[in-house]
Amino acid sequence: MNHFLSVHDVNDLNALVSAGLAAKKTPFADQHLGQNKTIGLMFFNQSFRTRISTQKAAENLGLKVISLNVGSDSWGLEMEDGVIMNGTKAEHVKEAAAVIGRFCNIVGIRSFATLADQAADYAEQVFHQFRKYAGVPIVNLESATRHPLQSLADCITIAEFKKTQRPKVVLTWLPHIKPLPQAVANSFSEWMHQSDVEFVITHPKGYELAPEFAGNAPVIYDQDEALKGAHFVYGKNWSSFSQYGQILTEGRDWMIDDAKMSLTDGGYFMHCLPVRRNLKVTDSVLDGPQSLVIEQAANREWSAQAVLREILLSL
Ligand code: CP
Repeated sequence: MNHFLSVHDVNDLNALVSAGLAAKKTPFADQHLGQNKTIGLMFFNQSFRTRISTQKAAENLGLKVISLNVGSDSWGLEMEDGVIMNGTKAEHVKEAAAVIGRFCNIVGIRSFATLADQAADYAEQVFHQFRKYAGVPIVNLESATRHPLQSLADCITIAEFKKTQRPKVVLTWLPHIKPLPQAVANSFSEWMHQSDVEFVITHPKGYELAPEFAGNAPVIYDQDEALKGAHFVYGKNWSSFSQYGQILTEGRDWMIDDAKMSLTDGGYFMHCLPVRRNLKVTDSVLDGPQSLVIEQAANREWSAQAVLREILLSL
């Protein structure tokens, strides 16, 4: 593996899941791989899990870690080529990417969607520019359209907890007070399409994911109907793609509670976190035996370790 930007950079998803599970059993078995090497983690947006899990995974592999918040720890970065830089951004990505590429063997980047311009967000300019100018492998720590390290952790979690060979996995839209990007839902859908699962998407009308991410998954607009017989319920809010970045409905009746979970086949509840309690999902579900959210978050370490290991092996 060179870059890790999406599931399309993965040769063998099952092998990557197995590598994550192996890392969980013996975290320090590959410490030699990262010796005398450095990873740089650049955050254009806030993070809790991604920052600490990626740092922990890198250190398990013997890597040194440099982590910075772009714009507060460093200069604001200009992404457009050919502009007169007379605004607030003091450094161009051409220099910044090239410089961090000289100090680091791998660069991880988090840069969310602005939700202001669909074409710009879906063009993933920040990742294209770093890939072009850094000269080292780039790892997606959540981009405008995808969150593949989260999706791999989700696959690892499903592999650990599934009780049937081909479980039913339901991605359900949840209510929220703020417009959120589609990245987690897009990415989860993309990874489920590559997995041996029965995958169903449910959301209110108007929240259809971009066709390249929704793929051929059945979309059921009746949440109760979709949840019937589910083994895994994956909750997430996202804003509209077609009416880009808009909240179309309050959707309070889409919150997951015990009654909804009782429609499943003893199903587990999953969410990437952070989660707003009693808005998206009730306390009783999150605190109950069906919740996998902490296991899922803990598996972020092993998804990051599996990916960084593959990249280190290819350096
Ligand atoms: N799930 C996830 O990516 O968490 P953070 O936004 O806290 O990194």
